[in-house]
Amino acid sequence: MPGLGVLLLRACLALLAMPIYLLSFLGFWQPFCRKVFFPFVLEKISAIHERKAKKMKQELFRNLVDFKSPSGELKLLEIGTGCGMNFQFYPPGCKVTCTDINPNFEQTLSRNMAKNQHVHYERFLVAPGEDLHQVPSASVDVVICTLVLCSVHNVNGTLKEALRVLRPGGAFYFLEHVADSPSSWKYFWQQVCYPTWKLIFDGCCLTRETWKNLEQASFSELKLQHISIALPWTPVRPHIMGYAVK
Ligand SMILES: C[S@@+](CC[C@H](N)C(=O)[O-])C[C@H]1O[C@@H](n2cnc3c(N)ncnc32)[C@H](O)[C@@H]1O
Repeated sequence: MPGLGVLLLRACLALLAMPIYLLSFLGFWQPFCRKVFFPFVLEKISAIHERKAKKMKQELFRNLVDFKSPSGELKLLEIGTGCGMNFQFYPPGCKVTCTDINPNFEQTLSRNMAKNQHVHYERFLVAPGEDLHQVPSASVDVVICTLVLCSVHNVNGTLKEALRVLRPGGAFYFLEHVADSPSSWKYFWQQVCYPTWKLIFDGCCLTRETWKNLEQASFSELKLQHISIALPWTPVRPHIMGYAVK
């Protein structure tokens, strides 16, 4: 249970964001957020995040080719593709299936696809990470998930689906913002911002300890590091990144 200070500051933030809470109460915010606001804002935020995280992503995706199937193909499925900010890091010739619950990123997604012709785009599925039933079991070499596990309804369910669609020996790559240390001021501010942030940014939760879900999922090997991405004045600095092998 958050302390009194957190609750008071949450109330202040909610007052500032009152029009959005009101629109949400009337049922207008969520459709507007999905269709117009979030695609617009995500493009801007992704560009900033990209600049700050580029070196880390290069390091993260460096060994993607190691997970090519014995036939030499690399079939990759991305959960929560958003604007397609990861395409530039994928190896030439790999086959990509994009998935997202929100189909309204067409403009930026198409632009990023056009910019990254070295990748072969197979299909785009409108599907939640928790239910990828259109994708056969053990059919992909790699699943990619960046900045998505903060927003899914069920982190364990999403990891279970990733494990299902991966072939044995395939890998789940992740880069996620997570909760700060519970004794830090940054965690205090994550708690303060939590409800308003979640409402504005389409379900994004600031205080998930996602590394625990990954540790408990049934992967045979987990390479995970805690890193900080320099995003000043935001509650999303602490991240985890790595990959887990089925
Ligand atoms: C912050 S964006 C990250 C986009 C992209 N992965 C990146 O790194 O730039 C979060 C994305 O996850 C998607 N998303 C949210 N909940 C989801 C779910 N349950 N299943 C699949 N995608 C989801 C959102 O629609 C959005 O595109």
